[in-house]
Amino acid sequence: MPATIITNIKQLVNIRQQNELLRGKELAVLPCIENAYLVIENGIIAEYGEMDNLGWTDNNNDNLIDASGQIVLPAWCDSHTHIVFATSREEEFIDKIRGISYAEIAAKGGGILNSAKKIAETSELDLLRSAWARLQEIMQLGTGAVEIKSGYGLSVEGELKMLRVIKKLKETSPIPIKATFLGAHTYPVEYKENHQGYIDLIINEMLPVIAEEKLADYIDVFCETGFFSPEETEIICIAGMNYGLKPKIHANQLNLSGGTQVGVKLEAVSVDHLETMDDDAINALANSTTIGTLLPTAAFFLRMPFQPARKLIDAGCAIALATDFNPGSSPSGNMNLAIAMSCIQMKMLPEEAINAATINGAYAMELQDELGSIMVGKKANLIFTKPVPSLAYLPYSFGSNLIDMVMIGGEII
Ligand code: NIG
Ligand code: FE
Repeated sequence: MPATIITNIKQLVNIRQQNELLRGKELAVLPCIENAYLVIENGIIAEYGEMDNLGWTDNNNDNLIDASGQIVLPAWCDSHTHIVFATSREEEFIDKIRGISYAEIAAKGGGILNSAKKIAETSELDLLRSAWARLQEIMQLGTGAVEIKSGYGLSVEGELKMLRVIKKLKETSPIPIKATFLGAHTYPVEYKENHQGYIDLIINEMLPVIAEEKLADYIDVFCETGFFSPEETEIICIAGMNYGLKPKIHANQLNLSGGTQVGVKLEAVSVDHLETMDDDAINALANSTTIGTLLPTAAFFLRMPFQPARKLIDAGCAIALATDFNPGSSPSGNMNLAIAMSCIQMKMLPEEAINAATINGAYAMELQDELGSIMVGKKANLIFTKPVPSLAYLPYSFGSNLIDMVMIGGEII
């Protein structure tokens, strides 16, 4: 197969000889090469370096791309989404404008329960079609790997339906997908007063089938006041862990829920959201191997204080960035926007944000051996920017589409 040779790259970003999860000060170090070349063979990064060192003789079969003026980055790794859903929820968006809170909407049977009703009424094929369209959209925005959660089923059939849709997406998607079982997203109405009944359903009816059909890689719980307590979160995660599903949990979004500490205790791959953190939660995370995944577009959309990224990084935490793409709290899967918000509102440096959205995002899906940096042997899932003055221009010029093209496995999409 002919190679693809990309020449005259203005800046090749996040080049690494080895994999390492970045924490604290390490996040600000983003190794780059100016005026670079990159060779792709069979969809894999085969070689890269400074243009001066490009030892290559013209072979008419090779595919040459001149990237003059363009920055090339590893594609974004979006490690937290809910892109399988039946319908949008802009009526709740209006309610929120009128002053009703996210928690109040949820308590009235809206929110997650609203999405669950719609999942029950929608066929697997229709769910697959709409999720496929969202997947195409985020790929065009530079996403080269994604995690997708269930959690709008809330019944045995509903959760399995969602997970089977995610499995079909996995089988057909050009980008790697990780599946997370989030049966514990909220209590269905009929179990509102019978928490143990729903936990039993998750543990005894859902998990065995999920394990049997290999429908999930991770287990998630929405650990939050009015949703699942830290004790319930721990029981459900341990049940999932017994089937080989590692935890990645929704923690500290609306309240000091204790979710971070439970995640740390269970050595979760990640604890996600973290809008509401105190010193105790920050220190617990900093002294752990668990990644803190920040979802700034969710904080933005719900008009919540942004995640305390500076405090988390300065305390030495390993931070990833993701979109939380879902119909209730983040109807956007635009990683470029998440990166811009983290720089503008959370005071992350552009280097920190890009590391958090690439290599650390890959770690948050355990895909670091395949993706997340420019490294020989990794997949050529790449972003080519339009001509821009510098890397910092990307988050600075928020809202502009600065992506010229995206490559997945060495193919332009
Ligand atoms: O990550 N917080 C919990 N779950 C989702 C939102 C779900 C919804 O509102 O549909 C989140 O923000
Ligand atoms: Fe979420």
